[in-house]
Amino acid sequence: MRELLLAIESSCDDSSIAVIDVNTYECLFYEKISQDEHNEFGGVVPELASRLHTEALPKILAKTKPFLNELKAIAVTNEPGLSVSLQSGVAMAKALSVALNIPLIAINHLKGHICSLFLDKEIMNDFLVLLVSGGHTMILEITKEYDINLIATTSDDSFGESFDKVAKMLGLGYPGGVFIEELAKNESNNTYEFSLPIPSKSRLEYSFSGIKNQVRLAINDCIANNTLDTQKANIAAAFQRIACKHIINKLNIVLHNKNYKALGVVGGASANLLLRSKLDEICKKNNMQLLLAPLKYCSDNALMIARAGVIAYKNKDFVNISDDIINPKSKNFKRL
Ligand code: KG4
Ligand code: ZN
Repeated sequence: MRELLLAIESSCDDSSIAVIDVNTYECLFYEKISQDEHNEFGGVVPELASRLHTEALPKILAKTKPFLNELKAIAVTNEPGLSVSLQSGVAMAKALSVALNIPLIAINHLKGHICSLFLDKEIMNDFLVLLVSGGHTMILEITKEYDINLIATTSDDSFGESFDKVAKMLGLGYPGGVFIEELAKNESNNTYEFSLPIPSKSRLEYSFSGIKNQVRLAINDCIANNTLDTQKANIAAAFQRIACKHIINKLNIVLHNKNYKALGVVGGASANLLLRSKLDEICKKNNMQLLLAPLKYCSDNALMIARAGVIAYKNKDFVNISDDIINPKSKNFKRL
């Protein structure tokens, strides 16, 4: 008799459900519906996100019927994220938990991203993680027993968010990461060189708002000189270069102080190829293994929540259905 777990992810603008075998980690069902409806607004509109989750989640759930009587637990993202988006998934998870009389598991979305590195295998101990998404930029240390320490985070925009904002300024689509990456390939010369934020070696901190302002000034200059069309690709490439350099610069400081056997890179922005090649270089230099999630599971998805759910299931780490588990702004990593 199989033991299956169903997981729901709805923390932002993706509605996703996965069913996983808790013993073999085999993914038996996976689907995600991304809400492209936000694109025209250049960012996620919470009320719209909530309404679209309410449409999409039941549509996906209907396809999981063949597995329902083998389910042993329901896992759901409860933090951090958009409050109204989290509510859609949590309400569905609670209803399933009651109807099927099986335990409910609450999963931190960021822990879920870390689990995207180990979807079909055992979780590693003692390694470093770079989390780069639309909402977060963090260097995390994963110690024994899957304990997580926060080493560095951003004091303003996240890495992915800065791509989104620069894309908006350049009149590109949303989410901006892929558009910037595509446009940067057309760079004709290195006209622009933006300055590196927080160069001090003693500050383990990220900040992307200064780069964004440098880009804004460059764009304004081009508009005044009527050269924006010919300079867009050069600006996008220079922005991408400095944003990646900033990430690598702080990682180098961490690696100078301590050795790690592996560096995992997770979150939607980990799809960026320039970032991946720079991370590959520092891993080779420091004799570390580079751990990457499959591209399909870099962005938000329920399979990573299911994998994190399996750990909680094995530890009997359940929550009460009457508990208010939604925690949009949770900061539950210990700061080193
Ligand atoms: O993890 P994710 O899917 O959602 C959040 O939890 O935020 O990450 C989405 C973010 C967006 O900001 C998007 O622009 C960025 O990841 N992103 C990229 C790339 N692909 C997605 N940023 C840079 N380069 C990319 N290729
Ligand atoms: Zn995410």
